[in-house]
Amino acid sequence: MQATETMQTRDVDSTRGAWDKWAAATGVPIHEGYYVPDLRTIELGWWEERKCNAAFLKLAGQEGVSEARVSEIPPGESTPPLKFALDEVVYVVEGRGLTTISTEVGGRQTSFEWQKHSLFMLPRHHYRQFSNTQGDKAARLLHFNYLPVLMTSIPEPDFFFNSRFVADAAAPELADFYSAAKAMQRPDGSWGSALWSGNFFPDMRAWDKLGPQVNRGAGAASVTIHFPGAPMTSHMAVFPPFRYKKAHRHGPGVVIVIPAGEGYSVMWQEGQEKVLIPWHEASVFVPPSRWWHQHFNAGGSPARYLAMHAHPATGGYSERVEDLARDQIEYTDEDPWIRQTFEAKLAEKGLSSGMPEEAYLDRSYKWATLEV
Ligand SMILES: [Fe+2]
Repeated sequence: MQATETMQTRDVDSTRGAWDKWAAATGVPIHEGYYVPDLRTIELGWWEERKCNAAFLKLAGQEGVSEARVSEIPPGESTPPLKFALDEVVYVVEGRGLTTISTEVGGRQTSFEWQKHSLFMLPRHHYRQFSNTQGDKAARLLHFNYLPVLMTSIPEPDFFFNSRFVADAAAPELADFYSAAKAMQRPDGSWGSALWSGNFFPDMRAWDKLGPQVNRGAGAASVTIHFPGAPMTSHMAVFPPFRYKKAHRHGPGVVIVIPAGEGYSVMWQEGQEKVLIPWHEASVFVPPSRWWHQHFNAGGSPARYLAMHAHPATGGYSERVEDLARDQIEYTDEDPWIRQTFEAKLAEKGLSSGMPEEAYLDRSYKWATLEV
C-alpha cells in the first residue's frame, strides 16, 4: 500500500500565493481593507531596487486578480529603467514628469510628458523609466496590471521582470505610440456610446468626450478606453450632483480611482450588511466579486470615477452587464434604505436629492444625459 503524507497548512494556504510573497518581500507597506481614502497621503516605504517610495494596495475586491501599486518619484529624480513583461496602466495622482519607453537599454525609445490626472499605458516587454520634472515636489503614480493572476500560473518573478524576450518584432512604431487617442465606432452599437482608443490621455479630470451611459440611470455619461495592442480596458463615468446610479455587480479586480467629485459608494453581498465607502479625489476602492455596488454623488459638482478593468478571464473586466435582470437593481426595486440614506446625508448639509420622483415609479424612466 502506498504511504500517505499529511498536508501542511503552508501547502494549502492559497491566501499567500506567489504574488503575495513577492509583494511582501519588497518590504514596502501593503494597504488592506475595502478602500484607500486618499492616495496622495497614504504611507509609502522606500523600495531600494526601484529607487522610489512605494506601497501596494491589497483591497478586499482585488482577490488575487489585479495589482494596484503606488510609486512616488522624488523631486527631480529618475527611477532606473525597469523591464516588465506585462502591459501596465498608470494614472497620475500627483505631480508632473516624463516616462521613457525603450525596447532595450540604449535601444529604440520614446518619451512623453504627463501631469496630474493623466492616464497612460506602458507596453509589455519594454523598459520604462519615470522622471519627476519638478524639482520641489514628489510625483505619485497609481500602477495597475494583471501580475497577481498571471503569477498563479508562473510564480517566478524573474519571468516577468528579467525576461530575455525582446519586443522589437512585435512592437508598434514607438514614435506613434503616444499620439492622440482616436474615437472608435462600436461594431454593434452596444452599451455606452463613447469608445476611445489610445495609450495616452492627458487629463481624465477634464476629459469631455463622453456619451450617454443609458442603462445605469442618473443621467450619467461615460467613455470606454481601449489601449491598442493590450488586453486592458478602462472606463470613466461622470454623473451629476445629488444623484446616484443603479446598483450592479460583476467579477473581482476592477480598481476604481476618483479623479473628481465627492460622494460615497455602497457595496454589499446579497442579503448581507452594506459597507459604505466615502470618496473624493484620489480615493480608491474595489468592489468584491459579485458584490452589489452603487455610486452616490453627494457633492455640488459632477463626480467622476475611473475604473480599471480586471483580466478578461476573471469576469470582472467590464462594466457591461449582460443580464440586466440578474446583475442590476432598478430604482423601483431597490431597498428603501438606499434612498433614505442618500436623502438623509444630503439633508445633514442642508441639501436635497436631485433624483426625480418618477424615477422611483417608472422602470423605463428616461434620463436626460449630463452635459459636461
Ligand atoms: Fe462596477
